[in-house]
Amino acid sequence: MSEVNTIAVIGAGIMGRGIAHAAALGGYRTILEDLLPGALRKAETEIRANLDKAVELGKVTAPDADSAFQRLEYAGSVEQAAREADLIIEAVPEEMESKIEIFTLLDKICRPATMLASNTSSLSVTEIASVTYRAKKCIGMHFFNPVHKMKLLEVVRALDTDDDTLATAVEVGKRMGKEVVVIKESPGFVTSRINAIIGNEAFHMLQEGIASAADIDKALKLGLNHPMGPFELVDLVGLDTRLSILEYLHKSLGDKYRPAPLLVQYVKAGRLGRKTGRGVYEYPEAPSKP
Ligand SMILES: NC(=O)c1ccc[n+]([C@@H]2O[C@H](COP(=O)([O-])OP(=O)(O)OC[C@H]3O[C@@H](n4cnc5c(N)ncnc54)[C@H](O)[C@@H]3O)[C@@H](O)[C@H]2O)c1
Repeated sequence: MSEVNTIAVIGAGIMGRGIAHAAALGGYRTILEDLLPGALRKAETEIRANLDKAVELGKVTAPDADSAFQRLEYAGSVEQAAREADLIIEAVPEEMESKIEIFTLLDKICRPATMLASNTSSLSVTEIASVTYRAKKCIGMHFFNPVHKMKLLEVVRALDTDDDTLATAVEVGKRMGKEVVVIKESPGFVTSRINAIIGNEAFHMLQEGIASAADIDKALKLGLNHPMGPFELVDLVGLDTRLSILEYLHKSLGDKYRPAPLLVQYVKAGRLGRKTGRGVYEYPEAPSKP
């Protein structure tokens, strides 16, 4: 297993900030980077608030929360973030072109020993790794939203991932407080593949007028014991992210994953979920544009 002291997280959106939070709490020096300086400022505020909340709830001691906060650094460029990292976790939007662009750059600027992980929810890590000269050091680390609360980490072994990289990713996940399952690469892994079908079916039902969004959510929570309804969940995840996943599963696994027209329409309208103030539901307290 390789030693990891410093983790860089590329992309400080919904997932990147949570991954940085968990990495810092796990004792790693953590460097967070985003194209947008505003995203880094938002991440810093949100991580502080979530750490304070964890202290309030008795889940973390105040000194541990303060030490974690001090382990966090914010970088102005990918180069600056990547230079000293032993492991880089990429969390930019769910588009193959963006992942390939980042991995191509990281491969050029990182030390040869640095491992590269993607937090993709569905895309082929093998394909992302293929643009590098270190495919054996590339792996999927699929965290869940909100990262500081969700227990699971899917570690995705790509075609060329070596045993050392796999063992290291599992160990890092455990130190970040996660329960780890190891998955052989396949579109959508376990969770995104099943969740995409449930969420898509809910949009079809809404479109067909079978029940209201609130009642579909209620039915799954009270009847099937899901902790959140499919519409509450998609608003949290982001409708754009869900649509990207479905488009990829449709392309790679077949017609049953074709995105529901209503989901496509909501994304076209800019109704992306909590992050834009409106998805299936409305969130008056959130900003109205990304
Ligand atoms: N949202 C979820 O619930 C969820 C859950 C698990 C995995 N994921 C996966 O995590 C990844 C990120 O999703 P998200 O929901 O955090 O997206 P997001 O849109 O909230 O955040 C993406 C961030 O990446 C930044 N970014 C874009 N291009 C960049 C670049 N070249 N360099 C640096 N930063 C860049 C953006 O400014 C933005 O802040 C996706 O692959 C997604 O599928 C998402």
